[in-house]
Amino acid sequence: MPYPLLSKTDSELAEALAAEDSRQESHLELIASENFVSQGVLEAYTSTLTNKYAEGYPAKRYYGGCGPADRVENLAIERLKKIFNAKFANVQPHSGASANLAAFYATLMPGDTYMGMDLSHGGHLTHGSAVNFSGLYYKPVAYGVKESDHLIDYDRAEALALEHKPKLIIAGASAYPRIIDFPRFRRIADKVGAKVMVDMAHIAGLVAAGLHPSPLEYADIVTSTTHKTLRGPRGGIILTNSEELIKTLNSRVFPGVQGGPLMHVIAAKAAAFAEALTGDFKTYQQNVVANAKALAERLIERKLSLVSGGTDNHLMIVNTFDTKGITGKDAQLMLEAANITTNKNMLPYDKNKPAVASGIRLGSPALTTRGFGKSEFIETADIIADILDAKGSDAALIAAKERVQKLCSRFPMRKFRLWD
Ligand SMILES: Cc1ncc(COP(=O)(O)O)c(C=O)c1O
Repeated sequence: MPYPLLSKTDSELAEALAAEDSRQESHLELIASENFVSQGVLEAYTSTLTNKYAEGYPAKRYYGGCGPADRVENLAIERLKKIFNAKFANVQPHSGASANLAAFYATLMPGDTYMGMDLSHGGHLTHGSAVNFSGLYYKPVAYGVKESDHLIDYDRAEALALEHKPKLIIAGASAYPRIIDFPRFRRIADKVGAKVMVDMAHIAGLVAAGLHPSPLEYADIVTSTTHKTLRGPRGGIILTNSEELIKTLNSRVFPGVQGGPLMHVIAAKAAAFAEALTGDFKTYQQNVVANAKALAERLIERKLSLVSGGTDNHLMIVNTFDTKGITGKDAQLMLEAANITTNKNMLPYDKNKPAVASGIRLGSPALTTRGFGKSEFIETADIIADILDAKGSDAALIAAKERVQKLCSRFPMRKFRLWD
């Protein structure tokens, strides 16, 4: 039993947690922003540091008893700097959105103009959506991808920058399957005296392994989550090579937008960063990219079209609407009925509303952690295509679920969870 104590004192909660364990065990996890952490990361995450208040930074705390907390936070900072070859790091942001909030707070005043990628073209909520702080308190100007090839329209971004004179330009995305040209964004920013912020949340693991060019040389500020390709606990980080900026950034994180750091999460970040410095992690990231390619190629062979025609990284956006006449919303539901977890996703220039969307986003990080190789990803592509071809018929779903179950039982989560 995975929760021996809780199941005695709070069986309702223990059952809900066990249900999530078995969901992860029995489903194919294809959400591009998710991953499975190691047992070491989980152990650090459940450490007694969750009991500790440590407002401030190492050696400059507002509470007593922070000796071990200082050691943990320094380990996380030093490891993170080493991974990305960065001069300064802040490991306290509770999430990617908090990291971005602090970065905005450090570089912009309310009402200032900045540029970010259009949400419907692959950007993130925190890059200028009207329903987010980034759209409510600042003036976002959106750049996007070309309709012809779905690649970022750098010329148009440059024209927009010259027209609107933003103070900050954000590069980075939640749903862009190609390499991002950071030097080009730097050149555009330099023409108008803007700062560059790269939000590498999705590709951080690839950058760590040298499989996507690093933004550190070109960006004033780099933010990221730690839980996607980087395979750490849920959380955020900020990096910079500027001594002046790190002082502002640190004060914007705490006391600017956060109170006490989540020290147990920082411990888990330190554990994940140690893993990211190993050769095994590099091999893992190489497999992530190779597996995404194998999945993409097979989907294309099965007559599904992909945004930009394929992928260079860990994710792809599948156009289910134009190729199979199925909305993203329905595709997500059909696949879920066969224990395949995905998310509906807008396509650039989508004709459907965001809640419906015309495609789904698929990523390889989680199943690659689970041990899947190219042949399992090809099988996964075939299962998906069979379901969509049959428009989610009962017979197709029953057959698909069986194939999913076979795949899952060949790669038990227990292998790295080790709870029994
Ligand atoms: C590019 C990008 N930035 C920021 C975030 C926000 O991260 P979080 O959900 O941890 O706030 C995400 C999450 O999906 C993301 O894709």
